[in-house]
Amino acid sequence: MDVREALYTTRAMRRVRPDPIPADVQARILDAAIRAPSGGNSQSWRFLLVDDPEVKARLAPLYQDAIAKLWQTFYRERLDHARATPDDPESASLLRVQSSAQHLADHFETVPLFLIAFSRGDTSGGSIFPAVWSAQLAARAEGVGSAITSVLGGFHGAEAMQILGVPPDKGWTMACCVSFGYPTGRWGVAARRPVHEVAYRNSWGTDVGFEISEPLWSPPEAGRPASES
Ligand SMILES: Cc1cc2nc3c(=O)[nH]c(=O)nc-3n(C[C@H](O)[C@H](O)[C@H](O)COP(=O)(O)O)c2cc1C
Repeated sequence: MDVREALYTTRAMRRVRPDPIPADVQARILDAAIRAPSGGNSQSWRFLLVDDPEVKARLAPLYQDAIAKLWQTFYRERLDHARATPDDPESASLLRVQSSAQHLADHFETVPLFLIAFSRGDTSGGSIFPAVWSAQLAARAEGVGSAITSVLGGFHGAEAMQILGVPPDKGWTMACCVSFGYPTGRWGVAARRPVHEVAYRNSWGTDVGFEISEPLWSPPEAGRPASES
């Protein structure tokens, strides 16, 4: 797969089929992930794959409680506003994300694979999230969808780590929990605020020098390579 296709179309794919992900595919995802950079090449990371139904069944109620707490706390006001103004594009977008995130929580046990990433001595997360994103890009290249989530660690990290047998006294923290599965929907280019609204040149607030109104990569037309599109 063209690297740009992976970069542009690796979306949060939370609606997935229960079909297992073959071990060789999992191996390629992890082997790509551990090529990522870390500060001083410290590689202070551990990756815990979870596919055992019993373990998922123990984590699911924690995940579901965490997502309920997320809606009731950080997102409460924004969701109230979005529900009151559902036709506003920003509200519609937030309600779509909420519905998708809730779907993942409701179907936690049928997600075939989770990758739970742990780091140590990395308060910024700068030495773990490159590896996590590489795993997601590698999964994309295999046709496997993924969604990075932080809610489990945020609300029930200690209990989840106990279930997973993580040693409590070695400084490991749960960076995130990534779901993986073959998507039920289609891949699309991620919608984002355009470059010229979020980038500057030389001085804060100064025009970056180009305006990009449409993504610079788009899906190739049938039979035509992406580089010619
Ligand atoms: C640090 C971080 C934490 C996230 N936590 C959650 C989460 O707890 N639950 C969830 O469903 N999605 C979570 N997401 C996924 C985002 O909601 C998603 O990346 C964003 O909505 C963009 O989705 P899109 O790529 O499909 O447009 C998280 C993403 C990041 C980067």
